[in-house]
Amino acid sequence: SAAEKDGHDWFMRKEIHEQPRAVADSLLGRRTPEGHLHLDEMRLSDQELRDVDKVIIIACGTSFYAGMVAKYAIEHWTRVPVEVELASEFRYRDPILDYSTLVVAISQSGETADTLQAIRHARTQRSKVLAICNTNGSTIPRESDAVIYTHAGPEIGVASTKGFLTQLVACYLLALYLAQVKGTRYGDEIDQVMRQLEAIPEQVQRVLDDAPAIYEMAADHIDTRSVLFLGRHAGYPVALEGALKLKELAYIHAEGFAAGELKHGPIALIEDGLPVLCVVPPAGRDQLRDKMVSGIQEVRARGARTICLVEDGDDAITPYADVIIRLPRVPVLLQPLVAVVPLQLFACELATLMGHDVDQPRNLAKSVTVE
Ligand code: G6P
Repeated sequence: SAAEKDGHDWFMRKEIHEQPRAVADSLLGRRTPEGHLHLDEMRLSDQELRDVDKVIIIACGTSFYAGMVAKYAIEHWTRVPVEVELASEFRYRDPILDYSTLVVAISQSGETADTLQAIRHARTQRSKVLAICNTNGSTIPRESDAVIYTHAGPEIGVASTKGFLTQLVACYLLALYLAQVKGTRYGDEIDQVMRQLEAIPEQVQRVLDDAPAIYEMAADHIDTRSVLFLGRHAGYPVALEGALKLKELAYIHAEGFAAGELKHGPIALIEDGLPVLCVVPPAGRDQLRDKMVSGIQEVRARGARTICLVEDGDDAITPYADVIIRLPRVPVLLQPLVAVVPLQLFACELATLMGHDVDQPRNLAKSVTVE
């Protein structure tokens, strides 16, 4: 009923709009007054975590893309090498695992069969398993050594939205926690990053307040049969997630690429009028943003219609953007939290305009309990 949907036409739209609260709830009570991180569901000792010399993240679908972002954060803050692997591929390649490997399973439902079988395999190899999960008491956390619960509340829409944002939050918390126990030099930044995270709910709200502009853009794309998404660094998984949302909800062919790979193949796909959604990294010392801008110039010169997600105040892109979507200013590692939201709104609106059921897209299930 409309009441259950809080006045929204679809659960999915409701869940997209619940994201500021979901992020805030997932951060609640994690920071002690002394500025230390506190994860109360952590059942691994600090010593066990200090001994971790490799992290392997396993997940499926949207959760896998949260894992890709986690790799950037964990490696940066902890200097521990991280692999990210699709759960369905993991155990069949006979992965190298031992007691000093931390396997992180990310699953909104906690019941995905591929992910469950992967953690069962990891445990037979004596690895420690930490679950990031939204469903209390579900199978994956029950079979793990430690759990970080996300507090998104029940997610009804088959395609994950608020589940994804809160998984990102849990991944950042895990990365910071590992930095804290390992005493890396980034340990000192924990307080600062926590403050940046605590500002995210309000920044996500600002993106949601701009939804009408995204809806207008969606209306312009009803006849689109293919869309490309480009990103770099933490924006690369955002591009992949934006493409996945469009496939799942609007049944439109969509592909995400690392922008630097364009010249190695995908640029051949560019033709007149092809929409290319570009997640532009914040300007910084590493010139990521400048390299993205030249990628955007390249596709535009070949006829692409460029839709650019770019931080407030960055005008370098203006001459090459057909459409500009403004994002709040956040550090590059946290940008996925704000950058994915317009892509969710775009896919949801476009699918709705096309007459599709966005809560239950064809052929998909909320939780896939077969391998
Ligand atoms: C299904 C859902 C996706 C989800 C994936 C992983 O395919 O349709 O939205 O991302 O499973 O689910 P999980 O519950 O393990 O995060």
